Parts: sequence; structure tokens; C-alpha cells
Amino acid sequence: MESIISQVLAATPENIVKASDLLRAGELVAFPTETVYGLGANATDGKAIAKIYEAKGRPSFNPLISHGASLEMLLPEAEFDDRALSLADKFWPGPLTMILPRKTSGKISDLACAGLPTIALRIPSHKIALDLIAAVGVPIAAPSANASGTLSPTAPHHVLSSLGGKVPIILAGGTTQYGLESTVVDLSGDDVVIVRAGAITAEDIADCLECTVTYQLEATDKPRSPGQLLRHYAPNKSLRLRAVDVERGEALLAFGSTKFMGIRGGGKASDLPDELKMNLSETGDLLEAAANLFSYLRILDNSNASQIAVMDIPNIGIGIAINDRLKRAAEK
Ligand code: TXA
Ligand code: MG
Repeated sequence: MESIISQVLAATPENIVKASDLLRAGELVAFPTETVYGLGANATDGKAIAKIYEAKGRPSFNPLISHGASLEMLLPEAEFDDRALSLADKFWPGPLTMILPRKTSGKISDLACAGLPTIALRIPSHKIALDLIAAVGVPIAAPSANASGTLSPTAPHHVLSSLGGKVPIILAGGTTQYGLESTVVDLSGDDVVIVRAGAITAEDIADCLECTVTYQLEATDKPRSPGQLLRHYAPNKSLRLRAVDVERGEALLAFGSTKFMGIRGGGKASDLPDELKMNLSETGDLLEAAANLFSYLRILDNSNASQIAVMDIPNIGIGIAINDRLKRAAEK
């Protein structure tokens, strides 16, 4: 990834406009929330989301939280049942993230949700965050603004030392209030389950909903645990990785040029019917490939092909996360 100069800017109205312009143009901006600093990107722009994973050096695609400035901004993205509306009423804006069933008509990119049928949503209470998101006018996906595997940032200089050279603007807003990521509550099923502990407790949520709330905390030190695998979109068809040709009956998930690729037994890959061929990036752009990965896998998974041949993806930058995802999908 090319190095850029990171500017730490005071969150003046002018700088919030400047930052919102960058976000709209598909660039990253770090900003304060009441929990930790977030590394934001336009949640509806898959290529911008890919930049988050690349900047953080995440070796895999974890689903991200999409942040809204108002409930109206988030309602089109998920099915809010009565429980979700009650929690929104009581705890938003604030340090609570809800996992809800995703609406297929929503605008948030597949990559932000790691291809899942559910989505994580939150309205932060920090004024700078709210002003910034409102200025952009669409939800902003934001994990904590630190390199993967390092401590979450609670002050602008933490962001600078962890992601300096990778994010053009860091909006400064002092030290964060909670210093701990938001509580994540999963409402996508019948049970109410807290999957990440935060300032809002099971008791707080149980009081509000008058129901039982349990904790089922993620294994952060075991990234390959079944729990984490479950949280990703899993294709039904088998995948054949590093394919250099296409077998009869296979669909092709291409990367780069397919000019010299053949079909075993005769024919050229470029002659495959459109429904059996998707190209993650014709020009070999890894960010574009990451942005297309989940939706293209889904399209080929729904085709009548016997399995999916996947061309080699360079194992550099965000290519590492793409290959991690493909390997998991091929192993099952
Ligand atoms: O406080 C916070 O929540 C901060 C600030 C910036 O808002 N953001 C943050 O985002 O911590 P992130 O991406 O680092 O954490 C997202 C959490 C992860 O634990 C992830 O596994 C979970 O939310 N998550 C996201 N989408 C999910 C989904 N569809 N199903 C289950 N878990 C999900
Ligand atoms: Mg984090």
C-alpha cells in the first residue's frame, strides 16, 4: 500500500466538511467516538471498505459495525423488531451495537458485513462522530483505528502511531469517554445474546426488554474457532483454488486477465457464458477484488455449476485476507 501523509486535524466545522468529502470520495478518515477512535469508510462503497482491512493489516475479513447519525439512516439497512426499537430508543446514541437481520434492499456493502445475512449497527454519541456521519449522509463502517492485533486507540496520537501513513485525516477529539469498545448484542435470533462485553451490561438490556440476556463472548485469541467461521458467508459449492484452467461444468471466479486460460478438453475460459464467470478485478486490483469477493461468490454459488474454480490471488496486502477467506471456504 502506498504511504500517505497523515494529518491530525482539530474537528472544526471546516475540517469536518473536508473529512466528509474524503469519505464520500472513498477514502479513510479516523474519528473519535465515545468508546474508541474508529477508522471510518463509506459503508456503501465496497472498495472503500477494502481499504479499512488493508490499512489495519487484518489477515481476514471480520464483519464491521456500520455507524449511523440517526435511526432514519439505519432503518433501511436492517429488520428492526420491537426489541431492537426499544433498545435503540433507550441506548442510542450510545455504546451499544445491535446485530440484526440485514435487508436485501439495504445499501451497505457485502464486504462490510463479511457476506453475512446479518448486520452490526450503532449510533455513537460523540458529537464529532455524529456531525461527520451526518455530513457524509450515509452510514460509516468503522472498526477501531489501530493495526490488527494491537491495542484499541483512545487518543489521536494512538491512531497516529498505529496507522500513520495509512489514513489521510485523523480528526482529533481528545481522549475517549469509555475507552472500551461498544457492547455488541445479537438480536438476529429469538434469544438476546451479548457477543462482546462493553459499558452497557446484560442487566441493562434485560431491564429494558424484560427478558433473559446471556453472554456468549467471542474467542479473540482463537481466530479459527468454529464460532468465527460461522460468522462468515459459506458457499455451498466446492471451491478449487489456484486454478490455471477450468474443468467442464465449473464456474470461474477470475482475477486479472483470462486471455490465456483454457477449458479442459477444449475451449477458452473467455467463452464461458456470463452466468458462469465473474471477474473479481479485470485489472488485477486487489482492493476491487476484495470489494467484489462475497457478492461474486454468492452469484456463482447460485449458478448451476458443479463447483467453482478460483484463479490465483497474489498473497500480498489485502490479498492475504482474500486468500484466508477462500481457503476457509474451500476447506469445509
Ligand atoms: O466501540 C466500537 O464498537 C468501535 C467504535 C469505532 O464504534 N468499533 C468497533 O468495531 O469496535 P469492530 O469492527 O472492531 O468490532 C466489530 C465487532 C466484532 O466483534 C465483530 O465480530 C462484531 O462486531 N460483528 C460485526 N458484525 C457482526 C455480525 N453480523 N454478526 C456477529 N458479530 C458481528
Ligand atoms: Mg478492534
